[in-house]
Amino acid sequence: MLSDDLRQTLFDLGQQQLLAHVDQLETSARDRLATQLSTIDWQQVRAMRSLARTDDPSAALSVDAAWLAAARTPAGPRLRSGGPSPAGKLTPADATLRGESLLASGGAGAILVAGGQASRLRCDGPKGIYRVGPVSNASLFELLLGRVRETGGRYGHPVPLAIMTSSATDGPTRDYLKEHNYFGLSAEQVLFFQQADLPALAMGSLDLLLDAPSHVAVAPDGHGGLLSALVAAGGLEWFADRGVEHVASFQVDNPLALPLHPEFLGYHLLADAEFSTQVVEKQEPAERVGVVAEHNGQHRVIEYSDLSDERASAVDPDGRLHLRAGSIAVHAFTLGFLQRAAAEPNSLPLHLARKAVPCLDATGTLHRPAEPNAFKFERFIFDLMPFAERVLTVEIDAAEGFAPLKNPPGAAADAPEHVQEAMIAQARRRCEEAGIDVAEEIAVELGPAIFDADDVRAAAGGRVVTTPRVLTLPARPAS
Ligand code: UD1
Repeated sequence: MLSDDLRQTLFDLGQQQLLAHVDQLETSARDRLATQLSTIDWQQVRAMRSLARTDDPSAALSVDAAWLAAARTPAGPRLRSGGPSPAGKLTPADATLRGESLLASGGAGAILVAGGQASRLRCDGPKGIYRVGPVSNASLFELLLGRVRETGGRYGHPVPLAIMTSSATDGPTRDYLKEHNYFGLSAEQVLFFQQADLPALAMGSLDLLLDAPSHVAVAPDGHGGLLSALVAAGGLEWFADRGVEHVASFQVDNPLALPLHPEFLGYHLLADAEFSTQVVEKQEPAERVGVVAEHNGQHRVIEYSDLSDERASAVDPDGRLHLRAGSIAVHAFTLGFLQRAAAEPNSLPLHLARKAVPCLDATGTLHRPAEPNAFKFERFIFDLMPFAERVLTVEIDAAEGFAPLKNPPGAAADAPEHVQEAMIAQARRRCEEAGIDVAEEIAVELGPAIFDADDVRAAAGGRVVTTPRVLTLPARPAS
């Protein structure tokens, strides 16, 4: 039922076009539309319209030009090499011990950001069900959940995992993971929570759009939606009840992600950081990664689309990019920081992007525009950085922890074949380090239980690998 209040709100905002087809709808469709309209935060829509009116992509940044001009790449330790941090020099051995004891005590949890669809990969459904294992043909979910499971097994304590879905991925993700028994995680170890949607606004009129007679065109509110959605689902208490004090978040598109790497977690702990983040050295100005920048003790991620060509191309005297701390969206937070940030009303500003959004015209015909016709709005979780007391960047080797799957087969970068090459190259390196010969052109893949050279040798079961193999060990039971 469309309430009088709702009709009045639509009238006040000049949005009665959303009811253009309501008289032709069956009761159930009309109820669906009424329900969707009643969940829209109209106060927020007003804020979105003001932001869109400025039509300034950097408006959400609240970074003034002077800050950006003075910003530099923060110094932080490098995985396996140690280095500087807010707590002084850190050694890999110290960090590893600290991280291992956190994992062994059950103090670490994880959040998998999986609200995205595989549409850029030209597939239906959640991105996480895309199969990318070069030998195993395992899906992203299988690879990533397998690693979480085995990390729990290795350190003797299951790692609680919260999985963020969106309206588009929630049902299929739950069904898929249930069907596969959560890839060995226990059902109690997994919490699903769904991020919110935000309506798109037509460029020009800033009106909301219908993409069906009974449905307003909406899109997920960005991975920054994680915070409010986690709070709404009771996720902070869920982690706290399980003894978690630090959570690491990672994106479903990166099968090499190392959110629970003990050395990373150890640096985070030793630096007493509230927000730690993994970075890889950005080599080319045009690389599509955000950069972590620091000035006056404040850290921020500047998204690639918000960085001018001039600023992105600036180089230091040694020839490296001046802003080169490429953000790979693997973060560690203290639970206390997330609790504090959740209570801060404006901690996550809206960013806007121009997109081609299918919509109905006045006659009710669906149009699929080729060019952007609407603004979409998102929040980014890394915007929490300025609120953290201490931020730490930990540099990792891209070949070891970053192989994002963004584009369909045949694309120039970040396509499945590039991800598979990176996975094979990593497995071949691990074999070489463990003294195992792998025949030329043979594809090998590391199973999720392979952590060190002893594991590689045990899994290889000999000195040479001559046929394509997934190097596996029997699953370790989590105690
Ligand atoms: C993102 C980062 C960029 C980083 C790069 C590393 C942002 C804005 N940009 O770029 O700084 O260098 O990854 O790979 O984060 N997702 C949701 N819900 C949403 C939106 C996204 O769950 O509402 C998930 C997607 O499933 C995906 C991930 O977030 O796993 C990244 O989203 P995507 O749109 O692919 O970001 P990029 O532009 O690649």
